[in-house]
Amino acid sequence: MTKTPLDIHTIRRDFPILNREVNGKPLVYLDNAATSQTPQQVIDVIVEYYSSYNANIHRGVHSLSQEATDAYEQARIKIQEHFNAAQSHEIIFSSGTTHSINLVANGFSSLLKKGDEILVSAMEHHSNIVPWQMLCERTGAVLRVIPMNDNGELVMEEYSKLLSPKTKLVFCNHVSNALGTVNPVEQIIEEAHKIGAAVLLDGAQAAPHIKADMQQLDVDFYTVSAHKMCGPTGVGILYGKEEWLNKLPPYQGGGEMIAEVTFEKTTYADLPHKFEAGTPNICGGIAFGAALDYMNAIGFEAIAKYEHELLEYATSALLKIEDLKIFGTAKEKTTVISFNIEGIHPYDIGVILDKLGIAVRTGHHCAQPIMDFFKIPGTVRASFSFYNTKEEVDVLVAGVKRAKTMLQ
Ligand code: ALA
Repeated sequence: MTKTPLDIHTIRRDFPILNREVNGKPLVYLDNAATSQTPQQVIDVIVEYYSSYNANIHRGVHSLSQEATDAYEQARIKIQEHFNAAQSHEIIFSSGTTHSINLVANGFSSLLKKGDEILVSAMEHHSNIVPWQMLCERTGAVLRVIPMNDNGELVMEEYSKLLSPKTKLVFCNHVSNALGTVNPVEQIIEEAHKIGAAVLLDGAQAAPHIKADMQQLDVDFYTVSAHKMCGPTGVGILYGKEEWLNKLPPYQGGGEMIAEVTFEKTTYADLPHKFEAGTPNICGGIAFGAALDYMNAIGFEAIAKYEHELLEYATSALLKIEDLKIFGTAKEKTTVISFNIEGIHPYDIGVILDKLGIAVRTGHHCAQPIMDFFKIPGTVRASFSFYNTKEEVDVLVAGVKRAKTMLQ
């Protein structure tokens, strides 16, 4: 067996789902960009929460409420430390990246005026396009697009040209979900800040692979979904610089986000509670903290090194298949391989792979503008995690070859 810096076979034992079969074949799970799998250590934290201290937080004087509050706030601190945010109240719990982006887009309604400009990259997920279009409709601001080239890399000269005193906001994914491109976020932030624009990075696809440092990046907003990084669905965070979070009005009104309520006037709570109306996903937040503990115990450097090996191995094996084309060939990539085989619809390949126990995503990956750019209906997307193996890549390659023989 190939020697790797990670003990993959021990790691795989942490993920009970990886032992199951699908359609009579061992599961080969290659849809990690859609959602990652959950290790037993995180499942145990979820079971423990509901078995022993399930209670509402920040509200009760009773012991269970205090235990749940402590665990939830401890998770916030773990997340702060992981992303090196300056302060824990700069971490706002949300239901995930989409919620986090909508929170910021809503907040900017009162800060933008007609003619202001918002830049988004050409390789965004719909969740980083539609909320800004809605914001433009509300404010009269104009959405402009940073173009990309045929490799799926942003054309940075064009970005520099688009920036102007009218630019108020720049939105970009740190890593593209459909292409795997790692965007030059340091340069994007530096140039935007020179003209006084704020930057939001969608970190949903980067966070499972890259440990982003909020203070070093000097980014204004960063969004993450726990379920992409070994945590549960329905929870994530918005990181925001304190100065920005103080400028934005609350997103949702309700319990927990207030200082004082009368029928005449309500005052709002301090950060982070101003943005956390209602009972949150308490168990999810605690489990997100446990997921970060799990991944940090393995180590992000070791994960990145191993995943890079997997990416190179899979890319070179897939490219040996005649008529197969990879979309997204940027120099800097994470473990996403989007591909098509000439003359075959991606959906048909996905169905055959499923019959062989191989889970991939097919379609436009919530990024229709990227598909329009390449003039394709969609792609087959294999996305790898640190618990995948080269043997699984071999199974994928054999499956794609079989699909090609059957369909072409
Ligand atoms: N955004 C997720 C994906 O890329 C769902 O599949």
